[in-house]
Amino acid sequence: MTDLIPALRAPSADAGTGQVRTGTPVSRVDGRAKVTGQAQYAAEYPATDLAYGVVVSSPAAKGRIVSLDTSAAMAVPGVIDVLTHANRPKIRSFDIAWKDMTAPAGSPFKPLHTDRIMYSGEPLALVVAETFEAARYAASLVTFEIAEEPHETALMSHLDRAYKPKPLKAGYEPPPDEKGDTDAAYDAAPVKIDAQFYSGVEHHNPMELFASTVIRDEDGHLTIYDKTQSSQNSRWYVSHAFGLSKDKVTVRNPYVGGAFGSGLRPQYQLTLAVMGALHLKRSVRVVLTRQQMFTFGHRPETVQRVKLAAEQDGTLRAIWHQAIAETSPIEDYVEVVVNWSGLLYKCDNIKLDYKLVKLDQYTPIDMRAPGAAHGVHALEVAMDELAYELKMDPLALRLKNYAERAPVEDKPFSSKALRECYELGAKKFGWDQRPLEPRSRKEGTEWIGWGMATGVWDAMQMFARASAVLHADGKLVVSSAATDIGTGTYTVMGMIAAEAMGMPLEDVTFQLGDSTLPVAPIEGGSSHVATVGSAVAGVCEKLQKTLFKHAKKVAGSPFEDAKFKDVEFVAGMLRLKRSPATGMALTAILNDAGMVRLEEKYLMLPNMLKQRKYRRLTHSAVFVEVRVDEETGTVRVTRVTSAIAAGRIMNTKTATSQIVGGVVWGISQALHEESYTDHRLGRFMNHNFSEYHVPVNADIHALDVIFAEEDDRIVSRLGAKGVGEIGLVGVSAAVSNAIWHATGRRLRSTPMTPDKVL
Ligand code: MOS
Repeated sequence: MTDLIPALRAPSADAGTGQVRTGTPVSRVDGRAKVTGQAQYAAEYPATDLAYGVVVSSPAAKGRIVSLDTSAAMAVPGVIDVLTHANRPKIRSFDIAWKDMTAPAGSPFKPLHTDRIMYSGEPLALVVAETFEAARYAASLVTFEIAEEPHETALMSHLDRAYKPKPLKAGYEPPPDEKGDTDAAYDAAPVKIDAQFYSGVEHHNPMELFASTVIRDEDGHLTIYDKTQSSQNSRWYVSHAFGLSKDKVTVRNPYVGGAFGSGLRPQYQLTLAVMGALHLKRSVRVVLTRQQMFTFGHRPETVQRVKLAAEQDGTLRAIWHQAIAETSPIEDYVEVVVNWSGLLYKCDNIKLDYKLVKLDQYTPIDMRAPGAAHGVHALEVAMDELAYELKMDPLALRLKNYAERAPVEDKPFSSKALRECYELGAKKFGWDQRPLEPRSRKEGTEWIGWGMATGVWDAMQMFARASAVLHADGKLVVSSAATDIGTGTYTVMGMIAAEAMGMPLEDVTFQLGDSTLPVAPIEGGSSHVATVGSAVAGVCEKLQKTLFKHAKKVAGSPFEDAKFKDVEFVAGMLRLKRSPATGMALTAILNDAGMVRLEEKYLMLPNMLKQRKYRRLTHSAVFVEVRVDEETGTVRVTRVTSAIAAGRIMNTKTATSQIVGGVVWGISQALHEESYTDHRLGRFMNHNFSEYHVPVNADIHALDVIFAEEDDRIVSRLGAKGVGEIGLVGVSAAVSNAIWHATGRRLRSTPMTPDKVL
């Protein structure tokens, strides 16, 4: 088999895997490569002349570099150079406007650009040495004299400066204009809730450290192994920032050890590694430390207020949702925080408002379910408060206000099995056994509570290209510059192609993670299956038709009078549906046509005219049991049932893993994660895994995942939506509501640590 980029090591399924169908549980084709160390990550690629770069981070949050001294660092044996703003190569394009594909409105950060310091932890120098150890030691010897200026990092002290961002970021829709008269409806309604919420900063913390290995060929071509959610975004960025033509740069990311949004934008280790390679004319690798991974974007600190009003029977009369979040001095990072409140419940009066405050921080960046993680939390806790005010079951309140059409824009949904999620989830969890009153069940020192919440996320489809090559030996190679951040892209794309061509999975290789492959979007927004999967289905259909055409021309062809709809592709054969014994091997068709390979290419463009008529979403219903120790305030989440409606599920095993991962993160958001800033220093203080808490196995108990049936041919030709983010949304609200049910304490800030619970 040829046409594989050797450096990619694209995995394929184990021999004997056989025929697969989408919609079934299939183990990852990359699983073996990952657990045996065959899978190489960005920091692991060798190069003969490799130099090692270590970043020196700013100790000050704001100010100007007055002077710097690199002499002690330069004196360390093995040190090659120390790059700073003062001596970095002057690159014209570096000084003019350039962006990455996912940049928000504003002017992107450029490392080592000037003497200005914008945030604590900002990269101020790159020490390059023959060994990593020499570079790391020398980095500790670089000294700066900094004229510090007062900084502002406390959101809560600057809420009065909040302003409305412009809707410039691709994909960002500003909250719609008000529907109805929310203030009047609120005032007139008999039952009301008015609640404020606070969510602290969170950081992504994927297992793999951010790294770029820039391998420079003798002709100056750069092959870059980068930790990114899009090889083509990094390639585009490097070309623009350094004024290099497209064919001078190849970016690869065949394996990515988690990213969760932190790899949606090129990070500064890429810029610095390329700068070093161009300056020194040799290969350079830069790996960030775990602490430095707290210096390039985070889920923003957000404060929210939700007002709800209802009739005594639970009919919602008014929804008012406001959010204020932080952004950097240079960019307007916007999230869809409040818009969800205009999508979930039927209501005639809805007002949404979203504002930003600029702080002396780096620009926040999307983190799994950006916006929804905070916004749906606030709405769903407020709904629980309203249910209690009404003396109504929280699930009954949601069903009472179930939206059959998207409320603000009054559009139909492309599909919506949320009602089924409520029913399936409640039944599995045993929700009907829940006492209405809080603080009514106790075992030993633990109060037991049950809570629920709704989740919602977008069902997006971008555009993508794919190619497919069938080889004379019967192997199929399908390619697209997609990414697998641990989500199962290799496996699901292989399954789609194998099913379409009627081939065993082991004979199909899906190739991704190389900027020279056919165009694919960034792996983000839970859109990869609906997008790249549809491109794969499209290119396979073209391949089928071409094979059929050739088969008809074979002398004495059994397909001579057949139409395309009369044939099927099964077990490596083209067969007549009505007479399965009549068929030709795909390899025989190629052979007869005198071909050693047959290639097709396909461009998948979403049908936007049709899609625009519908609101396209995924939904979930999350049910949670907590046990709260009355002496220590510790919360154990002992049971979670998550019922998901996300279109056709392509691989029930990897999709379940996605949801389980999302639920674990939701528990983490609820109970553990927060990056604490010391505002005197303007710096995140718990920037390591011992103090930034994430759940361990002992924190996670029974998790149930159920998929409600949905098949959405408006979102994608496969019927699939996406499962990357929906698993997280609503979980923290359900945990909060369960804590209230256990203890009678209403917590309105995350994480809900024992000090708040007690
Ligand atoms: Mo996700 S936050 O779209 O990588």
